[in-house]
Amino acid sequence: MRVVSGIQTTGRLHLGNYLGAIKQWVAMQDQVAEAGGESMYFMADLHALTDRVAPKELADNTIEMTATVLAAGLDPEKSIIWNQARVPAHSELTWLLNNVARVGWLNRMTQFKDKAGKDREGASVGLYDYPVLMAADILLYKATHVPVGEDQKQHLELTRDIATKFNSDYGVEVFPLPEPMISVAAPRIMSLRDATAKMSKSNPSDMTRVNLNDSDDEIAQKFRKAKSDAESLPDTVEGLEERPEARNLVTIYAALADIAPAEVLAQYGGQGFGQFKPALADLAVAKLGPIRDRLVRLLDDRGEVIRVLERGSERARAIAGPVLREAQDAMGLQL
Ligand code: TRP
Repeated sequence: MRVVSGIQTTGRLHLGNYLGAIKQWVAMQDQVAEAGGESMYFMADLHALTDRVAPKELADNTIEMTATVLAAGLDPEKSIIWNQARVPAHSELTWLLNNVARVGWLNRMTQFKDKAGKDREGASVGLYDYPVLMAADILLYKATHVPVGEDQKQHLELTRDIATKFNSDYGVEVFPLPEPMISVAAPRIMSLRDATAKMSKSNPSDMTRVNLNDSDDEIAQKFRKAKSDAESLPDTVEGLEERPEARNLVTIYAALADIAPAEVLAQYGGQGFGQFKPALADLAVAKLGPIRDRLVRLLDDRGEVIRVLERGSERARAIAGPVLREAQDAMGLQL
């Protein structure tokens, strides 16, 4: 068993980020080790290039995202943690796989269609090829399991198609088919001021999000002032339909407490937000405070973060090198 996943380093150090992916990684880390498996998590800085970002900002984002996963509990003794750019085999395998993937397959990718919008002709080739780089990230390590959010499911299916075609075109068994692990526990966290929009780093109002480096007071303040409605909480999850603000706050509570939304409602159903919001604020401070303290310390000592990436890249290169070579050999690139 080898678990591989990545996170794009488009610097979003907020609660949505943490509850969306990182928390699942941390939870899996020990389970995978107990099962005798290996966990590998990387910073997708090459993927971040597809979002056009200033160079200095990209470097900072990579450090900050790494510090965040470490603060949240990923342990470099238990997981290999690195950044994509320092393992050139990601890019090299992408080129090989570009010759296996079909244009027709990429044309069906909904993320590309969404991100390119109306101006397809003006989109970068990198954005178009994004899913093939992702396939390379996974196949390079012969990953067996890939934890991703629901929105990445299509990219995982493409990865399996590429692996299948590679193996059959060249009559080899180089790439095992990776299983997606779509975590149902990875909720979409919405803005605290408008629950129809995703919580986002780019929103001009800081009150819409909880940043992972917010002080206890800021965290509590943001939940106390979060938009809600005038009714009391329902007894069942169905009662949250049509109440996006209520649903968002219940979702956040459930994710932080590691319980199902129904359990939150079993406890708080019938109570008003005057009671629920302070309880949520207390829970958030209890759960996020320690992560913030570690994050702040790591951001003060970036050297430690850089050393983790260097060591991780070295270990990743050692695994990736022979697999890249196997793929090259299969294709006739053995000289
Ligand atoms: N595309 C993924 C996302 O946006 C990030 C990612 C890049 C990834 N490469 C990957 C996830 C490989 C899993 C495996 O969430």
